[in-house]
Order: sequence, then C-alpha cells, then structure tokens
Amino acid sequence: MNPFYITTPIYYINAKPHIGSAYTTIAADVLARYHRLLGQEVFFLTGTDENSQKNLEAAEKNGKGNQMQTYLDEMADVWQRTFNALNITHTRFIRTTEPDHSKAVETFWKRVLAKGDIYLGDYNGLYCTGCEAFLQESDLTEDGLCPDHQKPPKKIVEKNYFFKVTNYKAALLKHIQEHPDFIMPESRRHEVIQYIEHFMTDLSISRSTMQWGIPVPGDASQRIYVWFDALINYLTGIGFATDEQSFQKWWPHVHHLVGKDIIKFHCALWPAMLLSADLPLPKRVFAHGFFTVDGQKMSKSLGNVMDPLQLVKEYSNDVLRYFLLAEIRFGEDGDFSKERLSERYEKELANELGNLVSRSLAMTETYLDGMVPQVITESFLGMVWQDYNHAMEMFAFQEALESVWKLVRKANQFVEEQKPWQQAKEQDKTLLKKTLYTLLETLWHLSFLLYPFLPQTSELIFKQLGKEIKDVFSLPLDKFSVWGNLQPGDRVYKGEILFPKK
Ligand code: MSP
Repeated sequence: MNPFYITTPIYYINAKPHIGSAYTTIAADVLARYHRLLGQEVFFLTGTDENSQKNLEAAEKNGKGNQMQTYLDEMADVWQRTFNALNITHTRFIRTTEPDHSKAVETFWKRVLAKGDIYLGDYNGLYCTGCEAFLQESDLTEDGLCPDHQKPPKKIVEKNYFFKVTNYKAALLKHIQEHPDFIMPESRRHEVIQYIEHFMTDLSISRSTMQWGIPVPGDASQRIYVWFDALINYLTGIGFATDEQSFQKWWPHVHHLVGKDIIKFHCALWPAMLLSADLPLPKRVFAHGFFTVDGQKMSKSLGNVMDPLQLVKEYSNDVLRYFLLAEIRFGEDGDFSKERLSERYEKELANELGNLVSRSLAMTETYLDGMVPQVITESFLGMVWQDYNHAMEMFAFQEALESVWKLVRKANQFVEEQKPWQQAKEQDKTLLKKTLYTLLETLWHLSFLLYPFLPQTSELIFKQLGKEIKDVFSLPLDKFSVWGNLQPGDRVYKGEILFPKK
C-alpha cells in the first residue's frame, strides 16, 4: 500500500486563524485519520507562510516592524496552539522561516536555473499585497481596484527574475487531460484548463523591493517571490534537500487541499515548477469553496469573523468538525449559520446518533446484564463500507457522512420495529438477543466510520463497548469492517450522554 501524504496551504499569519482557515485543516485531518485507519502510513503537513509582504505590513501595524522575527514567532505560536486545540494530528507544522526550507528553496531554484527556465527581465505591472500576486489590468474592477481586496494594486517597475512557465504549457495540459483526478472538482479543472490555454504567462519570481524573504541564490539584491518560495514547503516538509530517504518515501504520494482562490498557483505554477525541476507531479489538488457567515462574506470590518475556538467552547471539537463537513459539500461554497449548527446538533447528533448509542447500551445493561449475547445474526451493514470508502476516496465528506447516517437511521428504525422491550418479556430470549447483538455490532462499525470525523465521540463509543481505541486500531481493515467483531460475553457499559441537550 502506498503511503498517503496530505497537505493544507500554509497560512499567512497577518491575523489569527478564523473558521475559513480552520476548515481546510480540519478536512485534511479527517483524511489523515481515515488513511491511518486503513493502515496506511500518513504524513500530514500544515504550517505558516512567513516570507510575505503581508506579514511584514501586519507586523508594522502592530508596532513590530523592526522585530519581524519576534512577530512571526508569536503568531506562528498562536496558529500552532489553535491547531492543537482543534485536535489536529499533523505530522509537521512547517514554518517557511526555518533553515531547512531556505535550503530546499535554494536547491530548487538552482535546479530550475540549470534547466534554463529562469531569466532576468523587466517587470512593469501591478501587484496586490492582499493577494500577494501580480494582476493584469483586466483583473481589476471598473475603479481600478483588486476585486478581492477592494484596494488599488501597486504599480511596480523593476528588474526581476522570471520563470518560464510557458515552457510547460503543453506538458501541463497533457497531464491534466490524462489524469482526470489531478484537479478536483471537475468545475475547477475546466477553470484551470482555460487559464493555461489562454492566460498563462511567464511569471516574475523575485522582487528587488521586498525587505523580507529568501535571497535569490547568487544575487542578494533580490528576494524570492513569496509564492515560488511557499509552494516549495510541500517538498521541504518531507525532507527535500535535507533527508533524501524520507523525501523518496513520501513524494509524489501527495494530495493538496486548497481553497478555490489559489488553484492557479497550485494547478499551473506549481506543477510547472516541478516539471522544470524534474520531479513527478502530485496525485491530486482538491479545491474547496469559500464560506460566508449567515449569508455574509466573513470580514473583519463586518465583525463576523468566526473564531473556531469559540465554537469549540460552546459545542465541542467533534461537533464543529461534523457540522463543517456535513453542512457544506466539499468543493462548493456554503454558508456557516449558527442556527443550522444548532439544528444539526439537536437532530442528527443528539436525537439520532446519541440516542441510538444510549438506548442500545441501556437495554443491554437492563436485559442482558451488559453482556454481548451468544447468538447468530446476519450483517446489518448493507453497503455502508463500500459507499463510505468510495466517498472518502473522492474527498466527498458530505456523502460519506450521509452513508453513515443512513445506517444510524436504519438502526433506530430497527429498534422501533423490533421493540426489544417487548421481546424482553418473551420466554425465549433469542429474538431479544438478536436485536441487541445487531445493535451493538452496528455501534462497533459506527465507531470506526465516525472516527475520522468525530474522533472523541468514536473513542467514547468504543469505551462503552468495553474497548480501548488503541487496541481496536491495531486491527486490519478486512478484520474490523466485517460483521461479527463483538464476542459473546464481552462487557459493555452505558456511559455518559454523548450529546447533551442544549
Ligand atoms: N499563503 C497562501 C497559501 C500558500 S500555499 C503554498 C495563502 N494563505 S491564506 O492564509 O491567505 O489562505 C489559506 C487558505 O485559507 C486558502 O486555501 C484559502 O482559500 C482559505 N480560506 C481563507 N478564507 C476562507 C473562507 N472564508 N472560506 C474557506 N476558505 C478560506 O493563500
């Protein structure tokens, strides 16, 4: 089995994380946990993009313009602490001011230079610090503003190094045609093809006016453009230029999760850079949508920027994860509404899942002294594992959760139909035992299926089934995903309520 390498974009640290930035990282965490469950080795990389003009401006605003490193250290710490509090299981938190990253960027630059893909040219154009990107006149609004940041871009005239992206136009288009899963979802794939075919031009990859960043090898008067530097983090993180053995192990088994605003960088510039450096291309770049809050764009000026830690305090990590991935179809735009969060909490988590777990265990305690009965039953699972695995393979989190909830609802309906409280009154307890075994074994499967999304809840359900998560996770997939894991005589316990009424 190939190892699985998953990345998030590295974040600018001009502000603390909000729900939008937490979203990508939570989605990556779900995938990391799922692939560990399958028994694969997983490397999960996230981190901070520190060599940017944007960060410098933020440091200046905070009176730390001449203590840039201190500002970055403090902010990187805020981000790391947030991710830890969100229960993110990253393998490495990379910072682009770390020495191994400078080494990787220098090595990479030299390779591309040796290939003949870097040349010195005149740059005369527009730059938006908000996007950290060069803009064309045609990108601007009627008033000459950057449409995303509503600010006029800076006019820049200087000598820069350029990267011959256009050398790779044909190769990129061919790769995209031949690998339908390379850019997902489909709509983004079309957008990228249009861009490469009609708009992609050589790109300026250095700046003489930047005061912060990695110097161009052999020309200290210029610093490397933040995107050229930032994309290379995906190589640095796993040992490019510093640990060849590790690098060979993980590259190119990589899947990049990104927001839809940064696909051109990831689906055109980045693969062109890799082709130039003679490195194989990533397996997949998946672009998710943007979300609004209660129908409005999230922005500091509107005062509706949502702090993920605040939501975790009000609900829990699991609830936030569940809501984000169940509510918004991954790949599309969506709205974050606290009303919807509370509705889903009550209905799906408390009434459907929570109730199924508590009544199945309570009845086992009452009628069977908390013992798994000895009885032969047929699988109740239907196609859940197939549907779930297929959805997870496509990063279709909403569908994966729907397949799990189908099982939850079917099990609740089964309780209503079987009426174990009546079966308990019968002389022959076979039917009761069958009903309860079916329910308990279903909980076992639900704990696995839920684990990537609701890791703390999954651990609690396992505990109530008398199992420790570390023990069950050593089982291979073909063992734990078949019917009949719970053994007669195993002791189960009715534990705490999973989702108390709010
Ligand atoms: N530093 C670059 C990425 C370099 S990767 C080599 C960057 N950083 S960012 O902090 O501006 O954005 C990081 C990610 O957060 C992007 O994928 C972006 O799409 C995502 N989001 C920021 N706001 C968001 C929402 N409101 N909704 C969903 N995702 C959002 O770009």
